[in-house]
Amino acid sequence: MARVNRSPADGRIPLIAGNWKMNFDHLQAIAFVQKLAWSLKDARHDFGAVEVAVFPPFTDLRSVQTLVAADKLPIVYGAQDVCAHAPGAFTGEIAASFLAQLDCSYVLIGHSERRTFYGETDEVIAAKTAAAIGAGLVPLVCVGETAEDLETHGASAVPVAQLNAVLDAIPKTADFVVAYEPVWAIGSGQPATPEQAQQVASALRATIAARLGDEAAAVTRVLYGGSVKADNIAGFMRQPDVDGALVGGASLDVEGFSAIVRYQKHVGV
Ligand code: PGA
Repeated sequence: MARVNRSPADGRIPLIAGNWKMNFDHLQAIAFVQKLAWSLKDARHDFGAVEVAVFPPFTDLRSVQTLVAADKLPIVYGAQDVCAHAPGAFTGEIAASFLAQLDCSYVLIGHSERRTFYGETDEVIAAKTAAAIGAGLVPLVCVGETAEDLETHGASAVPVAQLNAVLDAIPKTADFVVAYEPVWAIGSGQPATPEQAQQVASALRATIAARLGDEAAAVTRVLYGGSVKADNIAGFMRQPDVDGALVGGASLDVEGFSAIVRYQKHVGV
Protein backbone atom coordinates (compact mmCIF):
# COMPACT_ATOMS: atom_id res chain seq x y z
CA MET A 1 0.00 0.00 0.00
CA ALA A 2 1.24 3.48 -0.82
CA ARG A 3 2.72 5.14 2.22
CA VAL A 4 0.75 8.03 3.56
CA ASN A 5 2.98 10.94 4.49
CA ARG A 6 2.44 11.39 8.14
CA SER A 7 4.86 11.26 11.01
CA PRO A 8 5.86 13.68 13.74
CA ALA A 9 9.28 14.00 12.11
CA ASP A 10 7.74 14.96 8.80
CA GLY A 11 5.36 17.50 10.31
CA ARG A 12 1.97 17.73 8.69
CA ILE A 13 2.43 17.34 4.95
CA PRO A 14 -0.33 19.23 3.16
CA LEU A 15 -2.83 17.03 1.34
CA ILE A 16 -4.81 18.17 -1.68
CA ALA A 17 -7.55 15.64 -2.33
CA GLY A 18 -9.93 15.49 -5.29
CA ASN A 19 -13.38 14.08 -4.56
CA TRP A 20 -14.70 13.16 -8.00
CA LYS A 21 -18.12 12.20 -6.63
CA MET A 22 -20.10 10.24 -9.28
CA ASN A 23 -18.08 11.53 -12.22
CA PHE A 24 -15.70 9.81 -14.71
CA ASP A 25 -16.00 6.17 -15.79
CA HIS A 26 -12.86 4.03 -15.73
CA LEU A 27 -11.67 5.17 -19.16
CA GLN A 28 -12.09 8.83 -18.26
CA ALA A 29 -10.34 8.12 -14.96
CA ILE A 30 -7.28 6.70 -16.72
CA ALA A 31 -7.08 9.69 -19.08
CA PHE A 32 -7.53 12.16 -16.21
CA VAL A 33 -4.92 10.63 -13.88
CA GLN A 34 -2.42 10.41 -16.72
CA LYS A 35 -2.94 14.07 -17.64
CA LEU A 36 -2.80 15.17 -14.02
CA ALA A 37 0.50 13.37 -13.47
CA TRP A 38 1.98 14.88 -16.65
CA SER A 39 0.80 18.34 -15.76
CA LEU A 40 2.28 18.16 -12.27
CA LYS A 41 5.54 16.60 -13.46
CA ASP A 42 5.87 19.27 -16.17
CA ALA A 43 5.46 21.89 -13.46
CA ARG A 44 8.08 20.03 -11.35
CA HIS A 45 5.65 19.57 -8.52
CA ASP A 46 7.30 18.29 -5.34
CA PHE A 47 5.00 15.43 -4.34
CA GLY A 48 6.88 15.05 -1.05
CA ALA A 49 5.96 18.63 -0.13
CA VAL A 50 2.29 18.51 -1.08
CA GLU A 51 0.60 15.13 -1.31
CA VAL A 52 -1.93 14.60 -4.11
CA ALA A 53 -4.86 12.20 -3.79
CA VAL A 54 -7.84 11.39 -5.99
CA PHE A 55 -11.09 9.72 -4.96
CA PRO A 56 -12.65 8.05 -8.02
CA PRO A 57 -15.84 5.96 -8.11
CA PHE A 58 -15.41 2.31 -7.06
CA THR A 59 -15.55 1.02 -10.64
CA ASP A 60 -12.49 3.13 -11.58
CA LEU A 61 -10.22 2.00 -8.76
CA ARG A 62 -8.72 -1.07 -10.42
CA SER A 63 -7.84 0.96 -13.53
CA VAL A 64 -6.30 3.74 -11.45
CA GLN A 65 -4.32 1.18 -9.45
CA THR A 66 -2.95 -0.43 -12.60
CA LEU A 67 -1.96 2.91 -14.12
CA VAL A 68 -0.36 4.28 -10.95
CA ALA A 69 1.60 1.07 -10.40
CA ALA A 70 2.70 0.62 -14.04
CA ASP A 71 3.84 4.22 -14.49
CA LYS A 72 4.98 4.63 -10.86
CA LEU A 73 2.90 7.79 -10.54
CA PRO A 74 3.38 9.67 -7.26
CA ILE A 75 -0.39 10.11 -6.87
CA VAL A 76 -2.33 8.28 -4.17
CA TYR A 77 -6.00 7.39 -4.27
CA GLY A 78 -8.92 6.12 -2.29
CA ALA A 79 -12.61 5.27 -2.43
CA GLN A 80 -15.52 7.58 -1.64
CA ASP A 81 -17.23 5.23 0.79
CA VAL A 82 -16.83 1.82 2.43
CA CYS A 83 -18.99 -0.78 4.17
CA ALA A 84 -18.80 -1.00 7.95
CA HIS A 85 -18.91 -4.81 7.80
CA ALA A 86 -16.48 -7.58 6.96
CA PRO A 87 -17.11 -9.47 3.68
CA GLY A 88 -20.42 -11.33 3.75
CA ALA A 89 -24.10 -10.99 2.89
CA PHE A 90 -24.32 -7.22 2.26
CA THR A 91 -25.57 -6.89 -1.32
CA GLY A 92 -24.11 -3.93 -3.17
CA GLU A 93 -21.52 -3.05 -0.54
CA ILE A 94 -17.71 -2.86 -0.73
CA ALA A 95 -15.53 -4.11 2.14
CA ALA A 96 -12.54 -2.15 3.44
CA SER A 97 -10.30 -5.15 2.81
CA PHE A 98 -11.21 -5.02 -0.92
CA LEU A 99 -10.05 -1.40 -1.06
CA ALA A 100 -6.81 -2.28 0.70
CA GLN A 101 -6.25 -5.01 -1.94
CA LEU A 102 -6.48 -2.29 -4.61
CA ASP A 103 -3.71 -0.34 -2.83
CA CYS A 104 -6.05 2.44 -1.76
CA SER A 105 -4.33 4.68 0.79
CA TYR A 106 -7.42 6.52 1.93
CA VAL A 107 -11.19 6.29 2.04
CA LEU A 108 -13.66 9.16 2.36
CA ILE A 109 -16.16 8.61 5.14
CA GLY A 110 -19.19 10.63 6.18
CA HIS A 111 -19.31 13.05 3.25
CA SER A 112 -22.34 15.31 3.65
CA GLU A 113 -23.91 13.77 0.53
CA ARG A 114 -23.76 10.36 2.26
CA ARG A 115 -25.18 11.82 5.45
CA THR A 116 -27.98 13.67 3.64
CA PHE A 117 -28.97 11.46 0.68
CA TYR A 118 -28.25 8.06 2.22
CA GLY A 119 -29.15 8.75 5.84
CA GLU A 120 -25.73 7.91 7.27
CA THR A 121 -25.74 8.57 10.99
CA ASP A 122 -22.80 9.38 13.25
CA GLU A 123 -22.95 5.72 14.43
CA VAL A 124 -22.71 4.33 10.89
CA ILE A 125 -19.88 6.74 10.08
CA ALA A 126 -18.01 5.75 13.24
CA ALA A 127 -18.39 2.05 12.35
CA LYS A 128 -17.17 2.65 8.79
CA THR A 129 -14.17 4.57 10.15
CA ALA A 130 -13.29 1.70 12.47
CA ALA A 131 -13.62 -0.80 9.59
CA ALA A 132 -11.33 1.29 7.39
CA ILE A 133 -8.68 1.54 10.10
CA GLY A 134 -8.98 -2.21 10.72
CA ALA A 135 -8.10 -2.84 7.07
CA GLY A 136 -5.07 -0.52 7.15
CA LEU A 137 -6.71 2.36 5.27
CA VAL A 138 -6.49 5.96 6.41
CA PRO A 139 -10.03 7.31 6.77
CA LEU A 140 -10.65 10.85 5.62
CA VAL A 141 -13.60 11.70 7.82
CA CYS A 142 -15.83 14.56 6.69
CA VAL A 143 -17.63 16.75 9.20
CA GLY A 144 -19.55 19.98 8.80
CA GLU A 145 -22.56 22.01 9.77
CA THR A 146 -25.61 23.02 7.72
CA ALA A 147 -26.60 26.66 7.33
CA GLU A 148 -29.29 26.05 9.95
CA ASP A 149 -26.78 24.47 12.38
CA LEU A 150 -24.53 27.48 11.85
CA GLU A 151 -27.31 29.84 12.80
CA THR A 152 -28.48 27.79 15.78
CA HIS A 153 -25.25 26.42 17.23
CA GLY A 154 -22.40 28.43 15.69
CA ALA A 155 -19.78 26.94 13.37
CA SER A 156 -17.88 24.46 15.54
CA ALA A 157 -20.52 22.63 17.61
CA VAL A 158 -21.80 20.19 15.00
CA PRO A 159 -18.42 19.37 13.38
CA VAL A 160 -16.91 18.78 16.83
CA ALA A 161 -19.82 16.51 17.86
CA GLN A 162 -19.48 14.57 14.59
CA LEU A 163 -15.74 14.14 15.19
CA ASN A 164 -16.32 13.04 18.79
CA ALA A 165 -18.67 10.28 17.58
CA VAL A 166 -15.87 8.94 15.38
CA LEU A 167 -13.21 9.27 18.10
CA ASP A 168 -15.41 7.13 20.37
CA ALA A 169 -15.05 4.21 17.95
CA ILE A 170 -11.38 4.18 16.93
CA PRO A 171 -8.11 3.21 18.63
CA LYS A 172 -6.20 6.07 20.25
CA THR A 173 -3.24 5.57 17.96
CA ALA A 174 -5.24 5.44 14.72
CA ASP A 175 -4.08 7.38 11.69
CA PHE A 176 -6.83 9.52 10.20
CA VAL A 177 -7.53 12.80 8.41
CA VAL A 178 -10.43 15.14 9.14
CA ALA A 179 -12.07 17.31 6.48
CA TYR A 180 -14.11 20.26 7.66
CA GLU A 181 -16.74 20.83 5.00
CA PRO A 182 -19.52 23.26 5.86
CA VAL A 183 -22.57 21.85 4.06
CA TRP A 184 -23.59 25.34 2.93
CA ALA A 185 -20.23 25.79 1.18
CA ILE A 186 -20.24 22.51 -0.78
CA GLY A 187 -20.95 23.05 -4.47
CA SER A 188 -22.41 26.47 -3.74
CA GLY A 189 -19.60 28.66 -5.01
CA GLN A 190 -19.65 30.29 -1.57
CA PRO A 191 -16.68 29.02 0.41
CA ALA A 192 -16.20 29.68 4.09
CA THR A 193 -13.78 32.51 4.77
CA PRO A 194 -10.24 31.40 5.66
CA GLU A 195 -10.88 32.72 9.17
CA GLN A 196 -14.04 30.60 9.54
CA ALA A 197 -12.15 27.54 8.30
CA GLN A 198 -9.33 28.23 10.76
CA GLN A 199 -11.73 28.67 13.66
CA VAL A 200 -13.35 25.26 13.11
CA ALA A 201 -10.07 23.51 12.18
CA SER A 202 -8.59 24.75 15.43
CA ALA A 203 -11.63 23.51 17.41
CA LEU A 204 -11.31 20.11 15.73
CA ARG A 205 -7.60 19.96 16.58
CA ALA A 206 -8.34 20.91 20.18
CA THR A 207 -10.87 18.05 20.30
CA ILE A 208 -8.24 15.60 19.04
CA ALA A 209 -5.81 16.92 21.68
CA ALA A 210 -8.35 16.50 24.45
CA ARG A 211 -9.31 12.98 23.37
CA LEU A 212 -6.07 11.52 21.97
CA GLY A 213 -3.31 13.76 23.29
CA ASP A 214 -1.14 16.57 22.01
CA GLU A 215 1.01 14.45 19.74
CA ALA A 216 -1.99 13.05 17.86
CA ALA A 217 -3.33 16.60 17.52
CA ALA A 218 0.03 17.81 16.22
CA VAL A 219 0.31 15.18 13.46
CA THR A 220 -3.32 14.80 12.34
CA ARG A 221 -4.19 16.69 9.21
CA VAL A 222 -7.32 18.82 9.12
CA LEU A 223 -8.49 19.81 5.64
CA TYR A 224 -10.98 22.42 4.50
CA GLY A 225 -13.54 21.62 1.78
CA GLY A 226 -16.38 23.53 0.14
CA SER A 227 -16.05 25.54 -3.09
CA VAL A 228 -12.24 25.45 -3.06
CA LYS A 229 -10.78 26.81 -6.32
CA ALA A 230 -7.35 27.82 -7.60
CA ASP A 231 -8.09 31.44 -6.75
CA ASN A 232 -9.07 30.88 -3.12
CA ILE A 233 -6.85 27.98 -1.98
CA ALA A 234 -4.05 30.26 -0.81
CA GLY A 235 -6.15 31.92 1.87
CA PHE A 236 -7.03 28.56 3.39
CA MET A 237 -3.49 27.21 3.23
CA ARG A 238 -2.19 30.26 5.10
CA GLN A 239 -4.20 29.23 8.17
CA PRO A 240 -2.13 27.44 10.80
CA ASP A 241 -4.64 24.63 11.39
CA VAL A 242 -5.66 24.02 7.77
CA ASP A 243 -3.44 21.31 6.27
CA GLY A 244 -4.97 20.91 2.84
CA ALA A 245 -8.21 20.79 0.92
CA LEU A 246 -10.91 18.38 -0.16
CA VAL A 247 -11.91 19.61 -3.59
CA GLY A 248 -15.10 18.58 -5.41
CA GLY A 249 -16.11 20.40 -8.61
CA ALA A 250 -12.69 21.98 -9.22
CA SER A 251 -10.99 18.57 -9.00
CA LEU A 252 -12.58 17.50 -12.31
CA ASP A 253 -10.50 19.90 -14.36
CA VAL A 254 -6.84 18.92 -14.79
CA GLU A 255 -5.48 22.45 -15.05
CA GLY A 256 -7.64 23.80 -12.24
CA PHE A 257 -6.83 20.94 -9.88
CA SER A 258 -3.17 21.05 -10.71
CA ALA A 259 -3.15 24.82 -9.96
CA ILE A 260 -4.72 24.08 -6.55
CA VAL A 261 -2.06 21.44 -5.86
CA ARG A 262 0.65 23.99 -6.82
CA TYR A 263 -0.75 26.71 -4.55
CA GLN A 264 2.73 27.35 -3.12
CA LYS A 265 4.05 28.33 -6.54
CA HIS A 266 1.41 30.61 -7.86
CA VAL A 267 0.55 32.46 -4.71
CA GLY A 268 3.70 32.44 -2.64
CA VAL A 269 2.25 30.97 0.55
P1 PGA B 1 -17.01 21.39 -3.93
O1 PGA B 1 -17.23 19.99 -3.15
O2 PGA B 1 -15.52 21.64 -3.98
O3 PGA B 1 -17.61 21.16 -5.29
O4 PGA B 1 -17.72 22.43 -3.14
C1 PGA B 1 -16.45 19.66 -2.06
C2 PGA B 1 -16.85 18.29 -1.56
O5 PGA B 1 -18.04 17.95 -1.66
O6 PGA B 1 -16.01 17.52 -1.06
